[in-house]
Amino acid sequence: MADSQGNGSPGGTGGLYGGPRAVDPEPTHSHHDDPEHITRTRFLSGVAVAGGAVLTAAILVPIVGFAVTDTVKDEEFRWVDVGPLSDFPDGKTTSIAVSGPFPESDRRAFVRRKDGAMSAIWNRCAHLGCPVEYSEAGDNYVCPCHGGAYDAEGRVTAGPPPRPLDRFDIKVVKQGTTERLDPATAPDDSRVLIGKPYSLDDDLKPYRLHGPGEEVTGVLANLYPF
Ligand code: FES
Repeated sequence: MADSQGNGSPGGTGGLYGGPRAVDPEPTHSHHDDPEHITRTRFLSGVAVAGGAVLTAAILVPIVGFAVTDTVKDEEFRWVDVGPLSDFPDGKTTSIAVSGPFPESDRRAFVRRKDGAMSAIWNRCAHLGCPVEYSEAGDNYVCPCHGGAYDAEGRVTAGPPPRPLDRFDIKVVKQGTTERLDPATAPDDSRVLIGKPYSLDDDLKPYRLHGPGEEVTGVLANLYPF
């Protein structure tokens, strides 16, 4: 029953207490119930997930790519017999065509035999891949495309190439066997074999094969350390 001052429970159903009553607050709007807030949260979560995926891909793709291409290269560039040692006179650089198992693995090499040591320099320019030419007069290599030039060992002397010319593994074996021989003392009928290509830094230290335009050392090379 409501009292005469009008105090009482709302609707007249309260007890004897006539003072101010605590009233349940209006339900406040929870951020968690706000559809817009959820959307934003989800959006940010999505951005984080997408960012993680991109980062993961950036790390994994080069690893997988290099693993696959290295396997291909291993098959592509196996040892090829390029003739008897007598075809490569000491003190000369001899240009030879090397046929691989696939047309795209055909390439040209400059086999240099000097003071008993042998090397095989690939004719692919380290800038953008144009075929370099050997100049007997200058005992050096020149690229017709952008003025790249290399010394007798393939080190850059001019132009834009970022590293020396790549090389192929080379070995001399006893005819009819796989027994490796020292080129300085091997008989003339020994066989010369050309193998897998590799890249070098400016000190002619070997690295795995890089593509034209790629550096083997420095900041850019460290982006893909595998
Ligand atoms: S491709 Fe040889 S200098 Fe550019």
